[in-house]
Amino acid sequence: MQIPIEQMEGVCLRFVVILVMVMSVESKLKTGFYSSSCPKAEKVVRSTVESHVKKDPTIAAGLLRLHFHDCFVQGCDGSVLISGSSAERNALPNLGLRGFQVIDDAKTQLEALCPGVVSCADILALAARDAVDLSDGPSWVVPTGRRDGRVSSSSQASNLPSPLDSIAVQRQKFAAKGLDDDDLVTLAGAHTIGQTDCAFFRYRLYNFTATGNSDPTINQSFLAQLQTLCPKNGDASKRVALDTDSQTKFDVSYFKNVRDGKGVLESD
Ligand code: HEM
Ligand SMILES: *[C@@H]1O[C@H](CO)[C@@H](O)[C@H](O)[C@H]1NC(C)=O
Ligand SMILES: *[C@@H]1O[C@H](CO)[C@@H](O)[C@H](O)[C@H]1NC(C)=O
Repeated sequence: MQIPIEQMEGVCLRFVVILVMVMSVESKLKTGFYSSSCPKAEKVVRSTVESHVKKDPTIAAGLLRLHFHDCFVQGCDGSVLISGSSAERNALPNLGLRGFQVIDDAKTQLEALCPGVVSCADILALAARDAVDLSDGPSWVVPTGRRDGRVSSSSQASNLPSPLDSIAVQRQKFAAKGLDDDDLVTLAGAHTIGQTDCAFFRYRLYNFTATGNSDPTINQSFLAQLQTLCPKNGDASKRVALDTDSQTKFDVSYFKNVRDGKGVLESD
C-alpha cells in the first residue's frame, strides 16, 4: 500500500477517530462519567501513566497494545487484566503484553480515593490515551462508564491478529469487528511505538520459507541492521524497535519505514 507523505499527518487524526469509535461502541458511555462520583479519576490515571512513562518511556507502547488486546476480545471490558491459568492473559498472543503494573497502580490509588467506583476497563482506556499523548501523539476524549467483565477465557484470544496472518486473514479479523481496510492500515500504525522480540521476525532474516535466503521484501541495508540486532543463534527474546529510530515517538515514521522496506514484522 502506497501512502503519499503529505497524507501521513492525516493518518494520526484518523487513528484517533477510529480508536474512539471502536472503543466506545459498548453503549451508554459518556464523557466525564466520573465527574461527580470520582472527580479526580482521569487526573489520577494521567499522573500515574506520566510517572511510569518518565521511568520507562517504552511502557507507553505496552499500554496501547494492552488496550487493543482488551478491546479485540469481547469488547473493552478489562478482561485481559484478569489473571488465571485459562484467562485471556495467558493466551499465546497475550504473553508479551506489558504495562499491567501501571493499571494496578492507578487502580490502587483510585480505590483509596473512591472505593468501588472506577472500572479497570476505563482505567485502561484512559491510560492508553494518555500513553499516546505522552509519546507526542494525538490525544482524544475517552467516554467512560465501562463495566468490568467477569469472564476471561484464553480460547477467545484466537481472534487477535498474528504477525504470520496473511493480509486476507487480517482483513477478515478486522472486518469481524466492523473495521475496514483503511481502519486496519491506520490502526496498524500503532506500531510507530514499541518493540518486539527477535523471535517474532528472525525467520525472515536467514532462511525465509526454507529458500536459504532472507525475505526479499526487506530493504537490503535494513536487513544487515536487523541481522546484527538478531544474530542467527542469538537471544530470541532480545527486544527490537518496531519503528526503527523513533520507537518512543508516536509519529508517521512507521509508515515511511514500511514504505521503504523497513517493516519489522512480516504483517507490517
Ligand atoms: C494488524 C495486526 C497486528 C498484528 C499482527 C500485530 C502484532 C504485534 C506483535 C507480534 C507485536 C510484538 C509483541 C512482542 O514482541 O511482545 C506487536 C506489538 C505492538 N502492537 Fe501490534 N499488531 C497488530 C495491530 C496492532 C494494533 C491495532 C495496535 C493498537 C492500536 C497495536 C499496538 C501494538 C503496540 C503498541 C506494540 C508494542 C508493544 C510493546 O512495546 O510492548 N498493534 N504487535
Ligand atoms: C533452510 O531450511 C531448509 C528446510 O528446513 C533446509 O533444508 C535448508 O538446508 C536450510 N538452508 C540454510 C541455508 O540454512
Ligand atoms: C532502502 O533504504 C534506503 C536507505 O534508507 C532508502 O533510501 C531506499 O529508498 C530504500 N529502498 C527501497 C527499495 O525502498
